[in-house]
Amino acid sequence: MTRAASQTALLVAGFRARASARDEPVCSDPWAAELAGDEGLALAERYYSDNPHMELWVALRTRFLDDEVRARLARGARQVVVLGAGLDTRAARLAADGVRFFEVDQPASQADRHARLARAAGYPQDAAVSVACDFEHEDFLDRLVAAGFDAGEPAAFLWEGVVYYLPEVAVRATCRRVATGTAAASVLSFDLLGRRIVDGGGLPERDESMRSMVSGLGEPLRFGTSDPLPLLADAGFRYVRQVSFDALALSYTGTYVRERAFRFQSVVSASRSPLEPA
Ligand SMILES: C[S@@+](CC[C@H](N)C(=O)[O-])C[C@H]1O[C@@H](n2cnc3c(N)ncnc32)[C@H](O)[C@@H]1O
Repeated sequence: MTRAASQTALLVAGFRARASARDEPVCSDPWAAELAGDEGLALAERYYSDNPHMELWVALRTRFLDDEVRARLARGARQVVVLGAGLDTRAARLAADGVRFFEVDQPASQADRHARLARAAGYPQDAAVSVACDFEHEDFLDRLVAAGFDAGEPAAFLWEGVVYYLPEVAVRATCRRVATGTAAASVLSFDLLGRRIVDGGGLPERDESMRSMVSGLGEPLRFGTSDPLPLLADAGFRYVRQVSFDALALSYTGTYVRERAFRFQSVVSASRSPLEPA
């Protein structure tokens, strides 16, 4: 099956642009607005009016995953793999001496990404190695290794805004490949939706609207769980840490607001080696 370029990647870049422009921003991506373009900014504007907490959620998960990369690099990792890269700019924002970035995505999203990057003034076009792969049908690790990834050396794997668009079998297969096919000190970090939002039915109106909104972009929600531990243990990971949306919001903004939507979301890190204290 040939996929179209991801529309949700534009939406996320649009939200990241909005979040980066705030006073005291939670995350900062100087290229997000240009990469999102008018289309991505308009999408974010439309969805913000329905569900303003989505902007905070995107900002929090982006910041958390940025901090994860920094933590892995501080502990000696020299490889960063961005799974489902969309319009991710970490290869430029978090570049460091001797560190290689790999960006994995399905071919149509990758082509769209490259076209947008080529128009982005000042963006370092060779900051990352691009690897084309459809998680549902291909082995991303074989392709990474063919592109120069060293499976014997630890890496930070990021999977931002992707797992809920995949069938569970592809989520499990990808987790297993990271857990058993890469160095023990590698860490896989991703964000997650609870099962209720994916299954739908009986949800508050704004949650239903978020659900139908992403389906309307041609990328329906397919996988969610509030408890990823069994799946991650089964994949071969030993150490797992999960942080809720509310806990992230509290630590990065100093605020807890009970009425915020998106409390069914969380971020997770998993490894075969002990994770350092948060
Ligand atoms: C919401 S976007 C997130 C993009 C980026 N990680 C970010 O946070 O800005 C989802 C991304 O997952 C990618 N994706 C979805 N299904 C995929 C699949 N089966 N194989 C490879 N990539 C996929 C899309 O192409 C898109 O780039």
